[in-house]
Amino acid sequence: MCGITGYIGKRKACQVVLDGLCMLEYRGYDSAGIGLFDEKGKMQVAKKAGFVSGLKKLAYDRQGCCAVGHTRWATHGLPNTANAHPHKCGRFCLVHNGIAENFAGLKSDLQKKGKKFLSQTDSEVICALLDDLYDGDVLDTMGRVAKMIKGSFAIAFLCNDFKDKIFVIKKNSPLAIGLGKDESFVASDPVAFAKYTDKTVYLKDNEMGIVDKNGLQLFDFCKNKKTVHIQNTNLFCDGDGQKVKSFTKKEIFEIPRALRHTANDFFADDKIISKTIDIFSKNDKVILTGCGTAYNACLVGKYTWEKVLRLPVQTELASEFRYQNPIVDKNTVVVAVSQSGETADTLQATKLAKSRGAKVVAITNVSHSSITKNADLVLHTKAGQEVAVAATKSYVTQILLFLCVASVLCKQSKAVKEIKKQIDDLPYLASKALLLDDKISKLAKEHCKKQGVFFVGRGLDYPLATEGSLKLKEVTYMHSQGFAAGELKHGSLALVDKNVLVVGIVTQKKVADKTFNALHEVSSRGGKVLVVTQFEKMAKEFGADGLLCLPGATDLLMPMIAVIPLQLFAYHVSVARGINPDKPRNLAKSVTVE
Ligand code: M6R
Repeated sequence: MCGITGYIGKRKACQVVLDGLCMLEYRGYDSAGIGLFDEKGKMQVAKKAGFVSGLKKLAYDRQGCCAVGHTRWATHGLPNTANAHPHKCGRFCLVHNGIAENFAGLKSDLQKKGKKFLSQTDSEVICALLDDLYDGDVLDTMGRVAKMIKGSFAIAFLCNDFKDKIFVIKKNSPLAIGLGKDESFVASDPVAFAKYTDKTVYLKDNEMGIVDKNGLQLFDFCKNKKTVHIQNTNLFCDGDGQKVKSFTKKEIFEIPRALRHTANDFFADDKIISKTIDIFSKNDKVILTGCGTAYNACLVGKYTWEKVLRLPVQTELASEFRYQNPIVDKNTVVVAVSQSGETADTLQATKLAKSRGAKVVAITNVSHSSITKNADLVLHTKAGQEVAVAATKSYVTQILLFLCVASVLCKQSKAVKEIKKQIDDLPYLASKALLLDDKISKLAKEHCKKQGVFFVGRGLDYPLATEGSLKLKEVTYMHSQGFAAGELKHGSLALVDKNVLVVGIVTQKKVADKTFNALHEVSSRGGKVLVVTQFEKMAKEFGADGLLCLPGATDLLMPMIAVIPLQLFAYHVSVARGINPDKPRNLAKSVTVE
């Protein structure tokens, strides 16, 4: 998964393309590059390992009005400058997002013809193939190449014979074209050009096009002309990344607002509510699926729906779902949760579910994302754009939507009233949890050198423990694991000593004393215990090494409140260890490879 941008028009293309790449760094930031026609019409390439900011220093002021750019998350080949895009072969200069699964065979055929390669990437092979097959008809060559590549691709390239055009091809990876006045834009996500235009064309799979300053001509892979459908994207543009000290922290502090918007939006939409009731009342099996944090939100969703609705719910990791020959039929609802709506495993899970006749409900933060195209119903988290790699505000809004759905499916009017009242209080309670920030910063400094950190909880605190642990691992590189508190004594307790921190999450009334029992087992083995709880008295009696007291709330709300100190803890430990929490190593915000 990578980010692509492109520009043709009257502005300085380098600036538009590089600014756009900054907005797309959530898709990868191993290396970045730009290919352009300079003011003399000469094709130039500049690329560099590392963040887009490094490339900006190299190329921001270059002249020229037509360029393509790329920010990379390495799939084939090391994250170095040679493997950075664009790749240049003969007349062509190309950027690519996706994976050409059959690249090895294509490469060896080209090598037999004498072609030399400078990188280890599958993308350079695509560029070389274009060059090899080119006979003066670019469109024809594009169609032939597109049909030869197996896998997924969003491609943008320049050709030396057409200095005022960008060529694009799409299959299974997102690509959008922005249309302005005498200028056009190309991007993996329209957020990259949102400040210039809101007129967007989303390319469909198996489409290719020619972009110039007057717009887009669209074709299928057999060169048949296709109609261009322009949509209005009204995106919230988050301004210049340089001015924000940390997106991770900023986004955690946006949680109260995100919760308010998500609930208001859901309850104001009668059509969505009646469609929700319709879909769930006609089906008797429910599967929740997603990856990473989105999967952790599914775990909370399962507890919530089983508790409120007494509805049996299954959870499946999307990355496992399609390989298990899952029992899914027309009586099943598959709820796919994805902040980006582009995660390849989650998308494939929805495709499989659809092919077996199931209804698909998408919970996503990006209203125009690929996942929405496979869905019978889209529930929109209104978290606003999430830039930091660690999912924070999107997680709480996903959980909130599970609760909102429970409230409209629940047949007991008293319970519904109660849930809605709780949801109203939620943004305020979340703001109270944010007040713990200073205290957490001190605790983070104290514990940032621990050998390992375990998170434990029972009931709804168990999925929360897995999320707290994922967040910590992701932005601090510390070893960590989330457990059901009762499981500790079945093996993992052997790992506990004075170098280990155990974070006990105790928010569920019925099981609070049981979790404190597990924490006693930890402290009597010399482990340090940090308690996150709404039961201050019990925690003081226990005598924790550190205590974070949460505002009181009912069980179902607690995952959305208690996760805030866990996210802040991960953030502050990351800073204390000298890591940039916004861009942890080896990761990318949107994982569009399987
Ligand atoms: O965009 P998605 O919600 O589908 O992304 C799924 C995971 O890749 C994502 O939640 C990942 O685990 C986060 N970086 C965790 O903070």
